[in-house]
Amino acid sequence: MTTISMIVNGEQVQSDDDPDMPLLWFLRDRLHKTGTKFGCGIGECGACTVHVDGVPMRSCSVPIAAVDGQQVTTVEGLAPNGSSTAVQVAWIKEQVPQCGYCQSGMIMAVTALLADTPNPTDDDIDAAITNICRCGTYPRIRKAIKQAALMGATAYAANGEKANG
Ligand code: FES
Ligand code: FES
Repeated sequence: MTTISMIVNGEQVQSDDDPDMPLLWFLRDRLHKTGTKFGCGIGECGACTVHVDGVPMRSCSVPIAAVDGQQVTTVEGLAPNGSSTAVQVAWIKEQVPQCGYCQSGMIMAVTALLADTPNPTDDDIDAAITNICRCGTYPRIRKAIKQAALMGATAYAANGEKANG
């Protein structure tokens, strides 16, 4: 049996599951981190986006074996102790969500974008944020990204992943 180890939101966890199990399954069914959503299951919609060593990844399409020894951050782990990141504050200020289903994946993708590109242009946003929102909240997402960029990318990096808002 292969044991896979990873750090999820700052906590060391292990899995004896099939190494091919998608990370999304492990996060939701084993760890009960249900903020990360299942949408398409084929790496297209982005609802399942988490960070692996600070890089946004679509967890429905990443086997747990691929993250052995790495740090995984879910939306629950972005801000410690009930606080909010700049991105989350901007999301609330702009009242971004409609149904909300895609939004944790959006927030994870945007957080990673701002970590790399603190003042993204519209083109940067279009290139980086390919997540799908069936409710069409894209204009508010764009406004909230600009808001978060203005607030500055202050760090609430719970897990030692690179600092960002
Ligand atoms: S559920 Fe993973 S990309 Fe759609
Ligand atoms: S807010 Fe409903 S899918 Fe995006």
